[in-house]
Amino acid sequence: MDNFRKYREQNRRLWDEITPLHYEHPDYKVAEFLGGENIIYDLMLEEIGDVRGKDMLHLMCHFGLEPLSLARMGANVTGIDFSQEAIRYARSLAESAKLDARFIESDIYDSPLQCDALFDIVYSTIGVLCWLNDLDAWAGIIARFLKPGGFFYLLEDHPIALMVSDDWEEGDIYFHKEEPVEWPGSADYSDPSYKRKNSAFEWSWSIGDVISAVAGAGLRIDFYHEFPFALHKSRTDFEERDGKWWLPGKEDLIPLTFSLKATRVE
Ligand SMILES: C[S@@+](CC[C@H](N)C(=O)[O-])C[C@H]1O[C@@H](n2cnc3c(N)ncnc32)[C@H](O)[C@@H]1O
Repeated sequence: MDNFRKYREQNRRLWDEITPLHYEHPDYKVAEFLGGENIIYDLMLEEIGDVRGKDMLHLMCHFGLEPLSLARMGANVTGIDFSQEAIRYARSLAESAKLDARFIESDIYDSPLQCDALFDIVYSTIGVLCWLNDLDAWAGIIARFLKPGGFFYLLEDHPIALMVSDDWEEGDIYFHKEEPVEWPGSADYSDPSYKRKNSAFEWSWSIGDVISAVAGAGLRIDFYHEFPFALHKSRTDFEERDGKWWLPGKEDLIPLTFSLKATRVE
């Protein structure tokens, strides 16, 4: 058992707790999805291109809205997540929407034991890096799941955005530390009036850590982009414009989101 499994196990309990809350929350747009709307970041679609006929793996897929939207667009999708509740909701959502998709319940660090397929595109979106205690192992797993010529795509909150809070808190750090920061009973991002019963144990990773881990796994970095808007309302002072969240009066000062694409060349 690795030293950090105990923290990931606590995090898994938290995700089992909050998945039903997210499923019901209007921001997640389950009703719209069931009504035929695809719930997927436009920015991601612009950056990865046509997904029709592509074998795609969503690592840390939550309850499956994004992979199922991609399935509706013609991709062959697999989603992996360690939350039993997330996978249960994802499978039932696939059934309700009459979409074909494979969902695997697994800690990401155990996932190569649960799935031996290779994919054209492996991807993850918003809110994943903070749950990972070992980025080199993570990048190795991504490379292991890619077909030669396939690529990895990551769309994520920028670490700078996560540390700029109005009142500096102890966990607001940029550089990685081995031990996670515990956030006990914090408010949930989907509904700030909901106080979580389980703690979150989170790690910070710098942009250098992310790029070095991906390059270190033998992938060729195709691009690294930074954007001055967030893709979800992670701060109370954000203002929404065209589905994106901006810091009013500070629109061009700091990056709030980043994306990265990297290819398995051989
Ligand atoms: C913020 S959500 C993913 C965001 C996704 N873009 C969404 O909003 O639907 C993070 C997901 O990572 C999963 N997760 C966290 N740690 C994990 C781990 N070690 N292995 C697999 N899944 C994990 C959680 O269960 C959760 O579903």
